[in-house]
Amino acid sequence: MPEITQPETFKLGTRIVNRVGYGAMQLAGPGVFGPPKDRDAALAVLREAVASGVNHIDTSDFYGPHITNQLIREALAPYPDDLVIVTKIGARRGQDGSWIPAFSREELTQAVHDNLRNLGVDVLDVVNLRFMFDVHGPAEGPIEAPLTVLADLQRRGLVRHIGLSNATAAQIAEARGICDIVCVQNHYNLAHRADDALIDDLAGRGIAYVPFFPLGGFKPLQSSTLEKVATRLSATPMQVALAWLLQRAPNILLIPGTSSALHLRENLAAAGLRLSPDVLAELDGIAAGA
Ligand SMILES: NC(=O)c1ccc[n+]([C@@H]2O[C@H](COP(=O)([O-])OP(=O)(O)OC[C@H]3O[C@@H](n4cnc5c(N)ncnc54)[C@H](OP(=O)(O)O)[C@@H]3O)[C@@H](O)[C@H]2O)c1
Repeated sequence: MPEITQPETFKLGTRIVNRVGYGAMQLAGPGVFGPPKDRDAALAVLREAVASGVNHIDTSDFYGPHITNQLIREALAPYPDDLVIVTKIGARRGQDGSWIPAFSREELTQAVHDNLRNLGVDVLDVVNLRFMFDVHGPAEGPIEAPLTVLADLQRRGLVRHIGLSNATAAQIAEARGICDIVCVQNHYNLAHRADDALIDDLAGRGIAYVPFFPLGGFKPLQSSTLEKVATRLSATPMQVALAWLLQRAPNILLIPGTSSALHLRENLAAAGLRLSPDVLAELDGIAAGA
């Protein structure tokens, strides 16, 4: 089998972005709530990401809440022309840090305005509607009313492109009948592959698939196979996990989350790691055993 060579960029809405981006969720305090332990370090990570070629940042105003967007604005505004900031709406935070569904017209409109204000922009590049029928994974539920609200906000010029998060294949199909969908952001990684068929379907439609928890999220990926492969390739397990995603499908855009400059550098360097067909087959076995 020939080695798979995937492109380094992909179209997100109307913009071409590098396939390795950055997820900003880790910049808030513990539990994605409150300020970071080290504010200057958080600002430095954001600046280094963009200086190193990242032109796709994933965020939400419910990270902190507000704090992550405010950090992005402080670190990066005025924003480079090629930077695409993707945000998400559909939840708000309780006083205790809980994640509460927020899907009324008022809440969705408020969320768009919160993102505009805290990011300091007139229009949001991409807004993902994050479904909460089951907070932990895609689950069927009615999407027409909230998506229509977001499509109205797009018509008013506040939102350039719309995406979905934590969505089922049926919801994505229904959504595409309501408005153009440019990306889908679901839980996916080497060990969690429920969206395999969906990714291939979206690739055929030119829709970006942006896995969240690409490194396992709050429970980092742990696998002896991953460790063995990484040692053989003189890479870290996380770099191999990211390289596997890049080779999995051309429409996968990465947003690994980190608060560490060292990890950021490692994650960006994963773009240069090529996995042979034999190594890919070995890594494919991880999901089977998960
Ligand atoms: N749509 C949704 O529902 C949803 C849900 C969750 C996340 N997201 C988005 O997806 C992005 C990515 O997800 P995530 O940040 O939760 O999970 P992730 O990228 O899978 O993993 C982040 C964790 O891995 C660590 N890490 C990062 N790079 C590493 C490296 N090179 N070596 C070792 N450890 C490393 C981070 O710690 P350090 O800070 O110490 O590096 C952090 O604990 C988020 O930033 C957010 O923008 C979306």
